[in-house]
Amino acid sequence: MADESTQIAVDHYTADEWVAESTASEVTSLRSSINDYIYENGRRYHAYHAGSYWGSNDEKAMDALDISHHVYMLLLRGKLHLAPIPNEVNRVLDVGTGTGVWAMDFADLHPEASVIGTDLSPIQPAFVPSNLRFEVDDCCDDWLYEKPFDFIHARGLFGCVSDWDRFYKQALQHLVPGGYLEQVEWSVWVDSDDGSAKGTKMDESGHISLEAAKKFGKSLQTVNEMEENMKKAGFTDVTVHTFKIPVGPWPQDKRLKNLGRYQRLVWEESLEMWVMMLWTSILGWRREEVELHLMEVRNELRNSKIHAYQIAYVFLLPYSKSFIDSIPGGFAMDENQPSRQYRYESTI
Ligand SMILES: C[S@@+](CC[C@H](N)C(=O)[O-])C[C@H]1O[C@@H](n2cnc3c(N)ncnc32)[C@H](O)[C@@H]1O
Repeated sequence: MADESTQIAVDHYTADEWVAESTASEVTSLRSSINDYIYENGRRYHAYHAGSYWGSNDEKAMDALDISHHVYMLLLRGKLHLAPIPNEVNRVLDVGTGTGVWAMDFADLHPEASVIGTDLSPIQPAFVPSNLRFEVDDCCDDWLYEKPFDFIHARGLFGCVSDWDRFYKQALQHLVPGGYLEQVEWSVWVDSDDGSAKGTKMDESGHISLEAAKKFGKSLQTVNEMEENMKKAGFTDVTVHTFKIPVGPWPQDKRLKNLGRYQRLVWEESLEMWVMMLWTSILGWRREEVELHLMEVRNELRNSKIHAYQIAYVFLLPYSKSFIDSIPGGFAMDENQPSRQYRYESTI
């Protein structure tokens, strides 16, 4: 072993190896900065690109995301996706992966696949299937993946993206021929067939959030705007599946009753994380005012006379050769570019 007086032999690196080595150590030293979470109004928020997303990432929010996953699974009758991808896939991306629950299930079911889950928050577990890795990344930045994907999955990205046109173009540029982008979203407002949700605090909440998100610069009208945005980005071959998600166990149908029971739980667990930042920082409400409003919503969630539901959409977007051909210079991805593992910015 070398002591202080011994000269340390210098290892030899190629330029590329040295870049890889430096990046790895930078990742380690900077990893802590993404955990310097922001605390506000009793909730915890992401530090990477702080302030760019309104949802909190604390334990309660994480629990709510995991319950939502169960709702999505009930909605799609136990399927992780509707896109007709082959049984064996190579590369899969889950954008805005949250707690990573979808990506973990997918990686377990597809041991042959190499799965990447990205998010602004590093809230995913450390021990995951060996064919899965999580990265802290902002999907609104340039996508710098080294190889295209067979399947790109995005779920619950309402209010996460200001420029959907760019998002869809980047996603489609990162698909292999035959690949699919699937996006699953639900409305942030409620409807009812018998008018019982009209004028409720639940109804009002959705509209307040829509207004706040507009001011914030990331629309929450995602479900209404997606198809047009996808078509604007150059795709005509969009398939849309529409579902109703009851909020509460009010439906007669057993399956919907069960779905509604879980969705009510999602509401109860998520309400504050959905609105606290938008209503206080953007609309100027006081924390107590928000809490009072949410207390009324909670009461309504237990009112059997309110038959509210949300609309969920699943959009399937296949790889489009005509779109890729229309990009000046051809396929926009540089296959030789090294993949970016993490992007960090100091939060100080
Ligand atoms: C409603 S959650 C959905 C999580 C997950 N897709 C699911 O369905 O369980 C939205 C997630 O998107 C992440 N997010 C928001 N804006 C983002 C962005 N610009 N880039 C990457 N992730 C983002 C949030 O941190 C959050 O985890």
